[in-house]
Amino acid sequence: MQNIKIGFVTISDRASSGVYQDLGGPAMQEWIKQALNNNWQAVSKLIPDEQSVIEQTLIELVDHGCCLILTTGGTGPAKRDVTPEATIAVCDKLLDGFAEQMRAVSLKYVPTAILSRQVAGIRGTCLIINLPGKPSAIGECLEAVFPAVPYCIDLIEGPFLETNEAFVKAFRPKHAKQKADA
Ligand code: MTE
Repeated sequence: MQNIKIGFVTISDRASSGVYQDLGGPAMQEWIKQALNNNWQAVSKLIPDEQSVIEQTLIELVDHGCCLILTTGGTGPAKRDVTPEATIAVCDKLLDGFAEQMRAVSLKYVPTAILSRQVAGIRGTCLIINLPGKPSAIGECLEAVFPAVPYCIDLIEGPFLETNEAFVKAFRPKHAKQKADA
């Protein structure tokens, strides 16, 4: 049986110091709960906007065996927003298309979507995706890119993710589907 671990990282000075409740972490988990048919285990972290802490947290989650890590927060232009820098620092490869697609779709919701510097990339056998901090942005962005996530994780030799097609339909090229079914 596959041991699927997914990391959820909320990056916020205020939520991590208790000024307000973390809504983003639970929103990401709830979205994935609806999206995946596999059994999976959540590994959640709530940390401040400190680049070294973010990098260390991402590395720990990858070493722990996460095949996917979603982050929320710290993608904007403000001084303390350093999530993209930390993500870039720990990734072996960046997947620019994820960020391009998320920003393009987000612009249909808010003109300020251009303020998000969110990135996505690969570290080892893990896909890391930055999401903006606003809880409503989480679904808006995941909906836009998640169809490509299972095949991306196939290509980096992670577990075979199966989606709940009524909620989100994964796209795999025909040969990939055949290979998995064989
Ligand atoms: N993307 C979506 N889909 N929906 C949103 O409401 N908010 C934007 C942008 N992207 C938003 C969005 C705003 S107002 C900002 S400042 C940036 O994300 C960065 O947010 P962050 O610093 O909380 O990550």
